[in-house]
Amino acid sequence: MPSAPDVSHLDPFAPGTRRLTDPDTTRAAMRAAGPLVQATAPAGGPVWIVTDDTLARQVTTDPRIAKDPAFAPPAWDRRTAGLEPTAAEQPSLTTLDGPEHAELRRAHAPLLSAKRVNERSERVHAIARELLGELARHGTVDLMADFTTRYPLTVLLDILGISLDHVDRAADACRLMFAPDPAAQGTAIAALAELAATALADGEGLAAELGERMPPGTTAQQLRYHLFGLVFAGQLTTDAALGFLVADALGPDPAQGEALVRRTLRDHPPAPYTLWRYTTADIEVAGVPIPARSPILVDIQGVNTRPGSPPGADLAFGAGPHFCVGAQLAQLELRAVADVLAADFPSARLAVPYGELRQSTLGGILGNRLTALPVVLAG
Ligand code: HEM
Repeated sequence: MPSAPDVSHLDPFAPGTRRLTDPDTTRAAMRAAGPLVQATAPAGGPVWIVTDDTLARQVTTDPRIAKDPAFAPPAWDRRTAGLEPTAAEQPSLTTLDGPEHAELRRAHAPLLSAKRVNERSERVHAIARELLGELARHGTVDLMADFTTRYPLTVLLDILGISLDHVDRAADACRLMFAPDPAAQGTAIAALAELAATALADGEGLAAELGERMPPGTTAQQLRYHLFGLVFAGQLTTDAALGFLVADALGPDPAQGEALVRRTLRDHPPAPYTLWRYTTADIEVAGVPIPARSPILVDIQGVNTRPGSPPGADLAFGAGPHFCVGAQLAQLELRAVADVLAADFPSARLAVPYGELRQSTLGGILGNRLTALPVVLAG
């Protein structure tokens, strides 16, 4: 039986820091090894990684491959592997598949459709203008210190109908999600879920609307967890993307508007890998046998940055039934910052040479984030 090339020596989940201009040699080597490679998972044992666009689209639509952590390798320590609760413990978009997942998507998707999101365009631009305007008065500012966290959270809380007085609490909770103590995560989830509950109590915004659209039998606790999921998934990713977007806009080869957003998401996808997926039975993928309860990932960054790949649909927002439900909102948020930067801060510049900007990754499947982004917005 054929097996996938083993790339464990490349250590594709290693944490680290490198310059923004340094080439990503690990991803190039994984791609060169084949469309499906095998590595060692951070939580131990083998993981299969897809490096090819066509195969990625097959794997993300394969009904034999599921998101539910109930199918995670039995040897993984659930606590330290950073897994979500199982679908039975906590049903969610990111752990359900099949008809139950489709039902939840039907509840969420219309609220975040292109039409609904574009109705918020002026408001999102106004939030970007206000936050950047405040910073512009301070000379050199590090946008990664607060802006990239605060702006997506402000947009999300605003759209969900949660009072903006809670942005600081929400920001603290998001930072706690990555504290080394796994217990801190529980505290952070509870804090975000509690904030979401305030919008439900007020009956305002998208949170309340989502509540009305939930499948029958959904408990209040489950609804709060769905809202936590939206805030967390929407903050973390957009936060990282904003750093790359502004660096790119002010860098040596600037683009603007939609082209800038597309290029940033293609070259620096904030989710460099898909979330974990697991085989539900012994299966073959691209002719390679993979045992039941094995983890599979798509290397989104590797696929997106393959030299010579035609421009067009990249995998920044995933593919298949789990395609990012917030993709329209995320692109509006990025577009608003690109627009406001170009229109209101035409003299904005990096306060350090582009070549000195550094990105770090916490390791595992987490994405890269600029370590700092010192800029002068005006003057
Ligand atoms: C630039 C920003 C963003 C990027 C690059 C991004 C990327 C992704 C990707 C790659 C997936 C699929 C993961 C997989 O298949 O394993 C995903 C799913 C998801 N995203 Fe996003 N996302 C972004 C912003 C947002 C925002 C703003 C929201 C919320 C409003 C959001 C909510 C979600 C949710 C709830 C899912 C799970 C969907 C499902 O499993 O059915 N994301 N995202």
